[in-house]
Amino acid sequence: MEEKEIYILAIESSCDETAAAVVKNGREVLSNIISSQIALHTKYGGVVPEIASRKHMERINQVIKEALSEAGRKLSDMDAVAVTYGPGLVGALLVGVAEAKAIAYAAKLPLVGVHHIEGHVSANYIENKDWEPPFLCLIVSGGHTHLVLVKDYGEYEIIGRTHDDAAGESFDKVARAIGLGYPGGPKIDRLAKEGNPRAISFPRAHIDGAAFDFSFSGVKSAVLNYLNSCAMKQEEINRADVAASFQEAVVEVLVSRTVDAAEKYGMKRVAMAGGVASNSALRSAMKQACGKAGLELMYPSPVYCTDNAAMIGAAAYYEYKKGVRHGLDLNAVPNLMIGQRQ
Ligand code: KG4
Ligand code: ZN
Repeated sequence: MEEKEIYILAIESSCDETAAAVVKNGREVLSNIISSQIALHTKYGGVVPEIASRKHMERINQVIKEALSEAGRKLSDMDAVAVTYGPGLVGALLVGVAEAKAIAYAAKLPLVGVHHIEGHVSANYIENKDWEPPFLCLIVSGGHTHLVLVKDYGEYEIIGRTHDDAAGESFDKVARAIGLGYPGGPKIDRLAKEGNPRAISFPRAHIDGAAFDFSFSGVKSAVLNYLNSCAMKQEEINRADVAASFQEAVVEVLVSRTVDAAEKYGMKRVAMAGGVASNSALRSAMKQACGKAGLELMYPSPVYCTDNAAMIGAAAYYEYKKGVRHGLDLNAVPNLMIGQRQ
């Protein structure tokens, strides 16, 4: 017997994108609307939480309307409403959670709360219909850097994490230091193409006793020290070389840890997730290393790497199928851990 088709309206508002999507059976994206606030936050050099919450409130209704209309579906066609409830900025999360609860109540739909990072991992299911657990996933976003074994849908084991800055955070901080502005990742990615990745040798941190953990504060400090010492000596700085050399140091660590972890845990398949997974140098280095090690590699298109609601709909589908339902007491959990459930 054919399984019933499941349509999920998904909402994401954990940081600075107000997003809604309609996803069919977890893998088919019927619409994916993203209203970015980046331009508003750029002049402050980073996300201002108060502004983010206010803008989410202003835009969320329209974004949801557009998601339904672009999908050619009505609320009454939906089987569930899904929403990111953590981790993220508490005020920003609350807007999406309150909206999803109101819709669930008014339209009598089941409510499924989704972990933001599990959403990022699930972005890998959208474009490759055959991609299934188990696999190893490198999660690299603005707030998180994790190596995770995805044992099954919704079943995660963290085997590596950052001890300080997240990978995306280090891109953003270095970009600010060399005057590129926010968000730094895409700007460093672009500028690095014109630079020499071997011009300056920045450190690659290894953590004793934790082979798959990361640390990025050392490389960030090394870049800042380099910039200061050039300024003291009144030497001109080649920003493209700094960007390329910094990026190379981060990429090398991410790739080598991932390939080593795949070998140690006997994983033949590797995926990437999160905003930094759209970095062109990381994608090409990971492709090369996985090819050499005989590992199958998957990463989402850039639009599904950075924050979006389609990935929340993909994760929600597998939670929904397992019977996960949240009550109208669902709350935002700003520091929600991977695998943790409210
Ligand atoms: O996943 P995401 O959109 O939001 C979080 O959940 O944090 O990730 C945003 C992060 C930012 O730090 C941004 O600078 C970084 O991803 N990023 C990149 C690139 N595109 C976005 N980092 C490096 N290269 C890129 N092309
Ligand atoms: Zn994210």
